[in-house]
Amino acid sequence: MALLPILSFPDPRLRTRAKPITHITPEIKQLAADMLETMYAAPGIGLAASQVDRHIALIVMDLSEEKNQPMIFVNPNVTPLTEETKPYEEGCLSVPQFFDQVERRAKVRINAQDLDGQPFEMEAEGLLAVCIQHELDHLDGKLFVDYLSPLKRQRIRDKLSKKGRQKSRKSEEAAVSAS
Ligand code: NI
Repeated sequence: MALLPILSFPDPRLRTRAKPITHITPEIKQLAADMLETMYAAPGIGLAASQVDRHIALIVMDLSEEKNQPMIFVNPNVTPLTEETKPYEEGCLSVPQFFDQVERRAKVRINAQDLDGQPFEMEAEGLLAVCIQHELDHLDGKLFVDYLSPLKRQRIRDKLSKKGRQKSRKSEEAAVSAS
């Protein structure tokens, strides 16, 4: 098991479209386990492979209070079951410390495969519906900030890139003082 680094907005790699998984290899099973560990440690409730720079259609999630109900979705897709949308205050491990309201379909059907390649289907409402649509967006190279106004998105971009720059400057300083 290993913790994986999570890409942060505005990293352009987050815009990569994920490829379908044709073969569930031991490496993909290991990736799913590592993604769950990374998600729990963050802590977060969902993580798409795109966020750890692996551009394949794989999502992990755990919406339970006790964090003991991991869900894994291979090649997921979502069909809206209603026109109705609902707002939800979303956050994202790739957009740390920012939260905002996003409108998504209130009810969807999820089709996916498990790690044995078995197809399954479920209907989702509430947090599960929000989360699967958010994670599926990651696989398409989309982020929740794309639904916000350009002004808000720019402000988040500025803050996160400034923080990123400070972080890399700090580690350069640390490298200099260590040498
Ligand atoms: Ni996210």
